[in-house]
Amino acid sequence: MSKLFSKITASFILILMLMLAIAVSLSNFMLETTFKSYVEDLQDKKMAFIVKSLSLNYDTRLLKWDRGILDLIGKDALENNLLIRIKDDRGIYVWDALNNNATCGDAIKKTLENIYSRSSVLTGKYVEKSFPINVMDMYVGSVEIGYYVSKSYSDDDKGLINRLNLMYFLISAFSLIIATIAGMFISREISMPISKVTEAVSKISKSEFKDKLDFKSNIFEIESLLQSINNLVMALDNDKHLRKRLATDVAHELRTPVSVLQSHLEAMIEGVWKPSKERLESCYDEVIRLGKLVENLKRLADLDNGNFTVLFKEFSIHDLIKTIYLNFEADFKKKNIDFSYDVSYGIEIISDKDKLGQILVNLISNAYKYTNAGGRVEIKGFKQEDAVIIIVKDTGVGISEKDLPFIFERFYRTDASRTKTTGGSGIGLSVVSSLIKVLNGNIEVSSQIGKGSEFKITLPV
Ligand SMILES: Nc1ncnc2c1ncn2[C@@H]1O[C@H](COP(=O)(O)OP(=O)(O)OP(=O)(O)O)[C@@H](O)[C@H]1O
Ligand SMILES: [Mg+2]
Repeated sequence: MSKLFSKITASFILILMLMLAIAVSLSNFMLETTFKSYVEDLQDKKMAFIVKSLSLNYDTRLLKWDRGILDLIGKDALENNLLIRIKDDRGIYVWDALNNNATCGDAIKKTLENIYSRSSVLTGKYVEKSFPINVMDMYVGSVEIGYYVSKSYSDDDKGLINRLNLMYFLISAFSLIIATIAGMFISREISMPISKVTEAVSKISKSEFKDKLDFKSNIFEIESLLQSINNLVMALDNDKHLRKRLATDVAHELRTPVSVLQSHLEAMIEGVWKPSKERLESCYDEVIRLGKLVENLKRLADLDNGNFTVLFKEFSIHDLIKTIYLNFEADFKKKNIDFSYDVSYGIEIISDKDKLGQILVNLISNAYKYTNAGGRVEIKGFKQEDAVIIIVKDTGVGISEKDLPFIFERFYRTDASRTKTTGGSGIGLSVVSSLIKVLNGNIEVSSQIGKGSEFKITLPV
């Protein structure tokens, strides 16, 4: 597997080379086509000039050209790599570069040498074009102009092309260096934090989620990754604590009633205590407590395993709350807590009445347990859009911000309620939370330590 670093750098270089190759081929192609038309244009102009010179220098009195002038025009043409042959109006050659060795020998030799020196790059053939020569609209003869169609460049052209190629080469080399540096820099920027993350994550897993990733990245995606990992680490750390606490709590909750029972029974068996009604009742209370705990654990396990039936039926919220209220009324009165309910009449809901009943009983018994004498507990029920809202509010001891996220975890009890002799086991709210899910509802809690708590249930109608 190749490394991200080398992969990104190589991609950068590859893309750049591809772009350069395209740019160079395109500019060479453009240069060649422009150059070709430029050469053709130049050739046409030269030929037009010869025709014009012949027309202007025709002696209209003698009706022929002066031999000396023809020699000049012919030689001049040869210097431009053009071989000309001139005919008079009767079609007889009056000047022929190839048959004029006496006057043009050297020039022809030079022209031919010039042409042949490029013949290795010549793809062209010898072309001859014929042009009529008119003087004042009268045909006086014609000129045949021959040349080699050449794709070769002159020394000047070659120099220009070489300079251009050198420029391309320099640009390519320079860009290559820049691309390599940029590629290395960018890939380092990306791959460094990734390797750092990998390294840190493996360290975190070894340290059992005690550490956190404490570096920052200016790349948005990497920064989000760091944050997600930190959130995950926090969640795992919480989970680990909860699991540890769960095991201790189960042991603790079971041990207390069992050891109380054991010591009481031992004392009675050994005759240290006489079995009195109070002592037997105290043992009985512990047995009841154990039974409740086991029953709650069983209920929770059933909910977890889907081992339950749901019966959705229409019923009145008011009637359900009134029944529960009446069951609790006496206890609240005994503890001197102001207990009331305020539920709109006629709210019908399709849900599981038993399960909603269990939820409310758990919340109300918590409110009872965690509210001191002289306090107030209130149940409210009303409809809001497509939902039914039920609120259980107390002026009790409240729950601190640090405990609030955990109260629905099983066996979780705040330290304050643990030290008190309220006698719970920290399962009630876990049952509530599982039951709420079964009813497709939602529960929210807000609380302030020393002031009280409010549990708000939202259920679909
Ligand atoms: N109304 C409340 N006011 C203050 N604290 C509360 C209230 N309801 C719950 N809590 C806190 O949340 C913890 C968990 O509640 P939960 O009902 O799950 O357990 P419990 O009441 O202690 O025991 P159980 O319900 O199993 O008999 C409680 O121990 C208590 O610390
Ligand atoms: Mg409870």
